[in-house]
Amino acid sequence: MARIAHLSDLHFGAICPKAVSATEAWLEQQQPDLVIISGDFTQRARVAQFRAASAYVNRLRARGFPVLLIPGNHDIPLYDVFRRFASPLGRYKRYISNDLCPWFEDDEVAVLGINTARSLTIKDGRINEDQMRMIEERFHAVAPGKTRILVTHHPLFAMPIASGGELSEAVGRSRSAIKAVAAAKIHIALAGHFHQTYAQAARKMVEDAGQALVIQAGTATSTRLRNDQPQSFNWLHVRRHNEVELQVVVWDGASFQRGNHVEFTFDGENWSTRELTDSARP
Ligand SMILES: [Fe+2]
Ligand SMILES: [Fe+2]
Repeated sequence: MARIAHLSDLHFGAICPKAVSATEAWLEQQQPDLVIISGDFTQRARVAQFRAASAYVNRLRARGFPVLLIPGNHDIPLYDVFRRFASPLGRYKRYISNDLCPWFEDDEVAVLGINTARSLTIKDGRINEDQMRMIEERFHAVAPGKTRILVTHHPLFAMPIASGGELSEAVGRSRSAIKAVAAAKIHIALAGHFHQTYAQAARKMVEDAGQALVIQAGTATSTRLRNDQPQSFNWLHVRRHNEVELQVVVWDGASFQRGNHVEFTFDGENWSTRELTDSARP
Protein backbone atom coordinates (compact mmCIF):
# COMPACT_ATOMS: atom_id res chain seq x y z
CA MET A 1 0.00 0.00 0.00
CA ALA A 2 1.24 3.47 -0.88
CA ARG A 3 0.43 6.27 1.57
CA ILE A 4 0.39 9.55 -0.29
CA ALA A 5 -0.20 13.06 1.04
CA HIS A 6 -1.59 15.34 -1.66
CA LEU A 7 -1.27 19.03 -0.83
CA SER A 8 -2.03 21.89 -3.18
CA ASP A 9 -2.22 25.66 -3.44
CA LEU A 10 0.08 26.61 -0.58
CA HIS A 11 0.23 30.27 -1.72
CA PHE A 12 3.19 31.54 0.28
CA GLY A 13 2.60 35.30 0.51
CA ALA A 14 -1.01 34.71 1.58
CA ILE A 15 -0.73 31.89 4.05
CA CYS A 16 -1.95 30.95 7.46
CA PRO A 17 1.43 30.36 9.21
CA LYS A 18 -0.07 28.06 11.83
CA ALA A 19 -1.51 25.83 9.12
CA VAL A 20 1.89 25.67 7.41
CA SER A 21 3.62 24.30 10.50
CA ALA A 22 0.65 22.05 11.25
CA THR A 23 0.99 20.34 7.85
CA GLU A 24 4.61 19.61 8.70
CA ALA A 25 3.72 18.22 12.12
CA TRP A 26 1.02 16.05 10.56
CA LEU A 27 3.33 14.69 7.87
CA GLU A 28 6.05 14.08 10.44
CA GLN A 29 3.62 11.99 12.43
CA GLN A 30 2.24 10.03 9.44
CA GLN A 31 5.48 9.48 7.51
CA PRO A 32 3.96 9.36 4.00
CA ASP A 33 5.60 7.37 1.21
CA LEU A 34 5.23 10.38 -1.08
CA VAL A 35 4.23 14.03 -0.72
CA ILE A 36 2.64 15.58 -3.81
CA ILE A 37 2.23 19.36 -4.05
CA SER A 38 0.18 20.29 -7.08
CA GLY A 39 1.06 23.91 -7.70
CA ASP A 40 0.47 27.48 -6.59
CA PHE A 41 3.40 27.48 -4.20
CA THR A 42 3.28 31.29 -4.10
CA GLN A 43 0.70 34.04 -4.23
CA ARG A 44 2.44 36.28 -6.78
CA ALA A 45 5.65 34.48 -7.78
CA ARG A 46 7.77 36.99 -5.82
CA VAL A 47 11.27 36.07 -4.68
CA ALA A 48 10.49 36.28 -0.96
CA GLN A 49 7.44 34.08 -1.49
CA PHE A 50 9.46 31.52 -3.42
CA ARG A 51 12.15 31.58 -0.72
CA ALA A 52 9.56 30.74 1.92
CA ALA A 53 8.05 28.01 -0.27
CA SER A 54 11.50 26.61 -1.00
CA ALA A 55 12.34 26.50 2.72
CA TYR A 56 9.10 24.58 3.29
CA VAL A 57 9.87 22.05 0.55
CA ASN A 58 13.43 21.67 1.83
CA ARG A 59 12.14 20.94 5.33
CA LEU A 60 10.01 18.14 3.85
CA ARG A 61 12.98 16.81 1.90
CA ALA A 62 15.15 16.98 5.04
CA ARG A 63 12.65 14.74 6.79
CA GLY A 64 13.31 12.19 4.06
CA PHE A 65 9.95 12.39 2.28
CA PRO A 66 10.05 11.90 -1.49
CA VAL A 67 8.28 14.91 -3.01
CA LEU A 68 6.65 15.39 -6.39
CA LEU A 69 6.10 19.03 -7.27
CA ILE A 70 4.50 20.90 -10.15
CA PRO A 71 3.89 24.63 -10.65
CA GLY A 72 0.55 26.44 -10.71
CA ASN A 73 -0.65 29.60 -12.42
CA HIS A 74 0.30 31.70 -9.37
CA ASP A 75 3.92 30.59 -9.77
CA ILE A 76 4.13 32.69 -12.95
CA PRO A 77 4.59 36.46 -12.37
CA LEU A 78 1.38 38.35 -13.10
CA TYR A 79 2.42 42.01 -13.05
CA ASP A 80 6.05 41.65 -14.08
CA VAL A 81 5.13 41.34 -17.76
CA PHE A 82 8.71 41.04 -19.00
CA ARG A 83 9.44 38.14 -16.68
CA ARG A 84 6.03 36.60 -17.33
CA PHE A 85 6.89 36.03 -20.98
CA ALA A 86 10.70 35.90 -20.95
CA SER A 87 11.04 33.46 -18.09
CA PRO A 88 7.62 32.52 -16.75
CA LEU A 89 8.78 29.68 -14.57
CA GLY A 90 12.37 30.88 -14.00
CA ARG A 91 11.85 31.48 -10.31
CA TYR A 92 9.91 28.27 -9.88
CA LYS A 93 12.79 26.35 -11.45
CA ARG A 94 15.35 28.17 -9.34
CA TYR A 95 13.63 27.87 -5.99
CA ILE A 96 11.34 24.84 -6.20
CA SER A 97 12.35 22.41 -8.94
CA ASN A 98 13.97 22.40 -12.33
CA ASP A 99 11.86 19.45 -13.40
CA LEU A 100 8.49 20.48 -14.84
CA CYS A 101 7.45 16.89 -15.60
CA PRO A 102 8.46 15.03 -12.44
CA TRP A 103 8.19 11.27 -12.22
CA PHE A 104 8.01 9.02 -9.17
CA GLU A 105 7.89 5.26 -9.30
CA ASP A 106 8.20 2.58 -6.68
CA ASP A 107 6.93 -1.01 -6.45
CA GLU A 108 3.32 0.10 -6.17
CA VAL A 109 2.73 3.39 -7.90
CA ALA A 110 3.91 5.36 -10.93
CA VAL A 111 3.24 9.09 -10.72
CA LEU A 112 3.70 11.72 -13.43
CA GLY A 113 3.36 15.46 -12.87
CA ILE A 114 2.52 17.70 -15.83
CA ASN A 115 2.89 21.48 -15.88
CA THR A 116 -0.34 23.19 -17.01
CA ALA A 117 0.60 26.77 -16.05
CA ARG A 118 1.06 29.16 -18.99
CA SER A 119 2.07 32.81 -19.43
CA LEU A 120 -0.66 33.69 -21.86
CA THR A 121 -3.67 32.23 -20.18
CA ILE A 122 -2.75 33.54 -16.70
CA LYS A 123 -5.47 31.84 -14.71
CA ASP A 124 -6.51 28.97 -16.96
CA GLY A 125 -4.23 26.09 -17.65
CA ARG A 126 -3.36 24.27 -20.80
CA ILE A 127 -1.87 21.00 -21.80
CA ASN A 128 0.04 20.60 -25.07
CA GLU A 129 0.55 17.83 -27.63
CA ASP A 130 4.02 16.94 -26.35
CA GLN A 131 2.68 16.55 -22.83
CA MET A 132 -0.15 14.32 -24.02
CA ARG A 133 2.37 12.18 -25.86
CA MET A 134 4.53 12.09 -22.76
CA ILE A 135 1.58 10.85 -20.66
CA GLU A 136 1.07 7.94 -23.03
CA GLU A 137 4.76 7.15 -23.42
CA ARG A 138 5.74 7.31 -19.77
CA PHE A 139 2.89 5.10 -18.62
CA HIS A 140 3.29 2.69 -21.51
CA ALA A 141 6.45 1.31 -19.89
CA VAL A 142 4.86 0.84 -16.45
CA ALA A 143 4.16 -2.69 -15.21
CA PRO A 144 0.42 -3.51 -15.32
CA GLY A 145 0.04 -4.08 -11.56
CA LYS A 146 1.09 -0.57 -10.58
CA THR A 147 -1.31 2.23 -9.86
CA ARG A 148 -0.92 5.00 -12.43
CA ILE A 149 -1.36 8.51 -11.10
CA LEU A 150 -1.33 11.76 -13.07
CA VAL A 151 -0.91 15.12 -11.31
CA THR A 152 -1.80 18.50 -12.81
CA HIS A 153 -2.46 21.89 -11.24
CA HIS A 154 -5.49 22.67 -13.38
CA PRO A 155 -8.15 19.95 -13.35
CA LEU A 156 -8.45 18.09 -16.63
CA PHE A 157 -12.17 17.74 -16.09
CA ALA A 158 -14.90 20.34 -15.59
CA MET A 159 -16.55 19.70 -12.25
CA PRO A 160 -19.57 21.03 -10.36
CA ILE A 161 -17.76 22.90 -7.62
CA ALA A 162 -18.92 26.48 -8.10
CA SER A 163 -21.18 27.80 -5.33
CA GLY A 164 -24.35 27.08 -7.32
CA GLY A 165 -23.07 23.73 -8.56
CA GLU A 166 -22.17 25.19 -11.97
CA LEU A 167 -19.39 23.46 -13.85
CA SER A 168 -15.88 24.79 -13.37
CA GLU A 169 -13.51 25.37 -16.26
CA ALA A 170 -11.37 22.47 -17.35
CA VAL A 171 -7.83 22.68 -18.61
CA GLY A 172 -7.33 23.93 -22.17
CA ARG A 173 -7.59 21.07 -24.71
CA SER A 174 -9.48 19.11 -22.10
CA ARG A 175 -11.04 16.71 -24.61
CA SER A 176 -7.68 15.59 -25.95
CA ALA A 177 -6.21 15.43 -22.45
CA ILE A 178 -9.03 13.17 -21.33
CA LYS A 179 -8.37 10.89 -24.29
CA ALA A 180 -4.69 10.71 -23.36
CA VAL A 181 -5.62 9.87 -19.77
CA ALA A 182 -7.89 7.07 -20.98
CA ALA A 183 -5.27 5.74 -23.43
CA ALA A 184 -2.59 5.75 -20.71
CA LYS A 185 -5.00 3.87 -18.43
CA ILE A 186 -4.56 6.40 -15.63
CA HIS A 187 -6.17 5.17 -12.42
CA ILE A 188 -6.09 8.41 -10.44
CA ALA A 189 -6.02 12.02 -11.69
CA LEU A 190 -5.01 14.51 -9.00
CA ALA A 191 -5.31 18.28 -9.29
CA GLY A 192 -5.82 21.48 -7.30
CA HIS A 193 -6.39 25.13 -8.34
CA PHE A 194 -10.01 25.51 -7.19
CA HIS A 195 -9.24 25.48 -3.46
CA GLN A 196 -12.00 22.97 -3.01
CA THR A 197 -12.03 19.23 -2.44
CA TYR A 198 -13.89 16.94 -4.78
CA ALA A 199 -13.74 13.30 -5.84
CA GLN A 200 -15.63 11.55 -8.61
CA ALA A 201 -15.23 8.87 -11.25
CA ALA A 202 -14.14 10.49 -14.51
CA ARG A 203 -16.76 8.45 -16.35
CA LYS A 204 -19.52 10.20 -14.43
CA MET A 205 -18.23 13.55 -15.66
CA VAL A 206 -17.42 12.70 -19.26
CA GLU A 207 -18.42 9.67 -21.26
CA ASP A 208 -15.49 7.68 -22.70
CA ALA A 209 -13.22 9.13 -20.01
CA GLY A 210 -11.61 5.83 -19.11
CA GLN A 211 -11.39 4.49 -15.63
CA ALA A 212 -9.72 7.35 -13.78
CA LEU A 213 -10.80 8.44 -10.36
CA VAL A 214 -10.60 12.24 -10.23
CA ILE A 215 -9.50 13.71 -6.91
CA GLN A 216 -9.20 17.43 -6.17
CA ALA A 217 -7.31 18.85 -3.22
CA GLY A 218 -8.31 22.05 -1.44
CA THR A 219 -5.80 24.68 -0.43
CA ALA A 220 -3.58 23.37 2.35
CA THR A 221 -2.40 26.67 3.78
CA SER A 222 -3.79 29.66 1.86
CA THR A 223 -6.02 32.29 3.42
CA ARG A 224 -7.92 32.51 0.14
CA LEU A 225 -10.79 30.09 0.56
CA ARG A 226 -13.57 29.11 -1.82
CA ASN A 227 -17.16 28.70 -0.65
CA ASP A 228 -15.84 29.05 2.91
CA GLN A 229 -14.29 25.60 2.66
CA PRO A 230 -11.48 25.52 5.24
CA GLN A 231 -7.89 24.64 4.44
CA SER A 232 -7.37 20.96 3.81
CA PHE A 233 -5.26 18.37 2.09
CA ASN A 234 -5.84 14.81 0.97
CA TRP A 235 -4.47 11.67 2.55
CA LEU A 236 -4.56 8.76 0.13
CA HIS A 237 -4.00 5.11 0.72
CA VAL A 238 -3.56 3.35 -2.58
CA ARG A 239 -4.05 -0.31 -1.84
CA ARG A 240 -4.23 -1.44 -5.44
CA HIS A 241 -5.09 0.31 -8.66
CA ASN A 242 -8.74 -0.56 -8.05
CA GLU A 243 -8.86 0.17 -4.33
CA VAL A 244 -8.16 3.62 -2.97
CA GLU A 245 -8.94 5.30 0.33
CA LEU A 246 -9.27 9.06 0.49
CA GLN A 247 -9.37 10.97 3.71
CA VAL A 248 -9.69 14.75 3.68
CA VAL A 249 -7.59 16.29 6.47
CA VAL A 250 -9.20 19.57 7.49
CA TRP A 251 -7.92 22.65 9.34
CA ASP A 252 -10.13 23.59 12.29
CA GLY A 253 -8.33 26.84 13.13
CA ALA A 254 -5.89 25.20 15.51
CA SER A 255 -4.91 21.86 14.02
CA PHE A 256 -5.54 19.48 11.14
CA GLN A 257 -8.26 16.94 11.85
CA ARG A 258 -9.30 13.85 9.95
CA GLY A 259 -12.49 14.55 8.01
CA ASN A 260 -14.44 12.67 5.32
CA HIS A 261 -13.03 9.23 4.76
CA VAL A 262 -14.15 7.25 1.73
CA GLU A 263 -13.08 4.00 0.15
CA PHE A 264 -13.28 3.78 -3.66
CA THR A 265 -13.39 0.40 -5.36
CA PHE A 266 -13.31 -0.13 -9.11
CA ASP A 267 -15.08 -3.24 -10.44
CA GLY A 268 -13.85 -2.97 -14.02
CA GLU A 269 -16.76 -0.71 -14.99
CA ASN A 270 -17.50 1.71 -12.20
CA TRP A 271 -16.02 3.15 -9.03
CA SER A 272 -18.20 2.45 -5.99
CA THR A 273 -17.81 4.42 -2.78
CA ARG A 274 -18.13 3.45 0.84
CA GLU A 275 -17.93 5.88 3.75
CA LEU A 276 -15.52 4.63 6.38
CA THR A 277 -16.12 5.11 10.06
CA ASP A 278 -13.66 6.47 12.58
CA SER A 279 -12.60 3.01 13.70
CA ALA A 280 -11.65 2.07 10.13
CA ARG A 281 -9.29 5.01 9.77
CA PRO A 282 -5.79 4.12 8.73
FE1 LIG B 1 -4.47 28.41 -5.97
FE1 LIG C 1 -4.23 27.95 -9.41
